[in-house]
Amino acid sequence: MRILVISGPNLNMLGIREPEIYGKSTYLDLVTYVTDCCTAVGCVCDTFQSNHEGAIVDRIQAAYGVVDGIVINPAAYTHTSVAILDALKAVAIPTVEVHLSDVDAREEFRHISYVSLYAEKVIKGKGFEGYKEAIDYLSDKLRQSVIE
Ligand code: DQA
Repeated sequence: MRILVISGPNLNMLGIREPEIYGKSTYLDLVTYVTDCCTAVGCVCDTFQSNHEGAIVDRIQAAYGVVDGIVINPAAYTHTSVAILDALKAVAIPTVEVHLSDVDAREEFRHISYVSLYAEKVIKGKGFEGYKEAIDYLSDKLRQSVIE
């Protein structure tokens, strides 16, 4: 089973960017962490980060027929992007939305998520641990659908 972990704008700046909110670990640390989480549950991990909305839409479309589950932190695009929502709906791949910070406890504009209209689960405010929860959830669900 193949899981694609997508990271939106400015997540390549993890470790430098507002460490009091996002922590001191880097994007490379995140890639290592999610790869290990996928390996632990017998899944192959693809990772993708972009600061560009269209590139994220293209990557989601390219996942069609190839990827079994998507973990996405759309970062700032969470709160604005109908295009990313539509791409996820188009490919219809099971998706979990993850945020490192607790977006509900922050500015009001961060309370809105377009991606949540498609994602079957949303995990907020758990840091890297949220990605593990998302990967475990998807691998359980995908395994179950193979049995049924
Ligand atoms: C974020 C929260 C977003 O509001 C913000 O724009 C980000 C990161 C998070 O992981 O907490 O870039 O998605």
